[in-house]
Amino acid sequence: MSPRDPADLRGTVGLHEFVVMANEEVAEDTYRLEISSGVSQGLEAGQFINIAVPGDATHILRIPLSFSRTDPADARVELFFAVVGEGTRRLSAMPAGAVSTAVGPCGKGWRLPDDPAVRCLLVAGGIGLPPIFAAAGMLTRAGVRFDVIAGAQTEAKLVFPLIHDLERLVADGCRVVVSTDDGSRGFKGFTTMAMEQLVSERAYGCVYTCGPEIMMRGVAAIAAREQIACQASLERMMGCGFGACGACNVPLVSGGCASCCMDGPVFDARAVAW
Ligand SMILES: Cc1cc2nc3c(=O)[nH]c(=O)nc-3n(C[C@H](O)[C@H](O)[C@H](O)COP(=O)(O)OP(=O)(O)OC[C@H]3O[C@@H](n4cnc5c(N)ncnc54)[C@H](O)[C@@H]3O)c2cc1C
Ligand code: FES
Repeated sequence: MSPRDPADLRGTVGLHEFVVMANEEVAEDTYRLEISSGVSQGLEAGQFINIAVPGDATHILRIPLSFSRTDPADARVELFFAVVGEGTRRLSAMPAGAVSTAVGPCGKGWRLPDDPAVRCLLVAGGIGLPPIFAAAGMLTRAGVRFDVIAGAQTEAKLVFPLIHDLERLVADGCRVVVSTDDGSRGFKGFTTMAMEQLVSERAYGCVYTCGPEIMMRGVAAIAAREQIACQASLERMMGCGFGACGACNVPLVSGGCASCCMDGPVFDARAVAW
C-alpha cells in the first residue's frame, strides 16, 4: 500500500490511522519508526501515543511509545523502540506501507523551566532518549540552554541517530556526554555518576530525565540534594492509556496515587514516592 496524502490523515485527539514510512534497526534490538499520521497534530514534547500492532488477535493491548520529534506540516512522527516482548517484536516487522492505528496525543508532557535563563540538564538512560530528545527540541525552540547525558549499558545500545542530532542541537558551550556502564564508549559508569560530575562543575536550574526507574530515582535524589527542579517521564504497564483501567498507578509522596497515562507520564520528581 502506498503512503497517503498527509492532509487526509490530519485530525484531533483520538484514534488515528497511521502508515509506516520507515522502520529500521539503528542499535542493538532498537528500531527507528517513522509514521505518517494525523496524531502528529498537537503532539507536545513528552506526550506519548498508544499503538496497535496487527498480527495477533490475542494481543489486545496497545503499545505506549514516546516520540522524539514530529513534523506536523508533513504529518510525520518519529519514534524509537526497543524490542522487549511479543508486541514490539511484531512492531519491528511492520514494513514501510503497513497500516494500523494510534491513540493520541496521550498524557501530559514536559514543562519549560520557570526561568528560561537557567541552564538545564537532560539525563537519558537507554530507550529513555526519545522523549529526552523531544525535551531538547522544546528547550531549543524556547531559547533555553541545556547539557545532555545520554547513557546505555554498552556502545551497541546507544541510539546514535539521536545522539548525533543532539550534538548538532546544543548551543555553543553546552555539552553532550555519552556514557556506558561498561566503558565501551564515552564516560565509563552510570548516568548518575556522569551527572554528579556535571553538577559539581556547572549550575543547573532544571533537570529532565527518562530511563530505567532505578536511574531516575538516583537522578531525582541528586537533583533534590542540589535543590534543582526535576521532571521525570515515568513508565508503567498500561492497559487503556486514557484513565479507565487503573493499571498505571504512580505512588505519590502526598499519599495516594496518580495515573501515569493521564497525570503523567511526566511528573515533578519531588512528588513521586520513589
Ligand atoms: C508512557 C510510555 C512511553 C514509552 N515510550 C517508549 C519508547 O519511546 N520506546 C520504547 O522502546 N518503549 C517505550 N515504552 C515501553 C513500551 O511501551 C513497552 O516496552 C512495550 O509496551 C512492551 O510491549 P511488548 O508486547 O513488546 O512486551 P511485553 O511482552 O508486554 O513485555 C515484555 C517485558 O517488558 C516489560 N514491559 C512491558 N511494558 C512495559 C512498560 N510500559 N513499562 C515497563 N516495562 C514494561 C514487561 O514487564 C516484560 O518484562 C513506553 C512506555 C510508556 C508507559
Ligand atoms: S493505563 Fe488505564 S488508567 Fe492508565
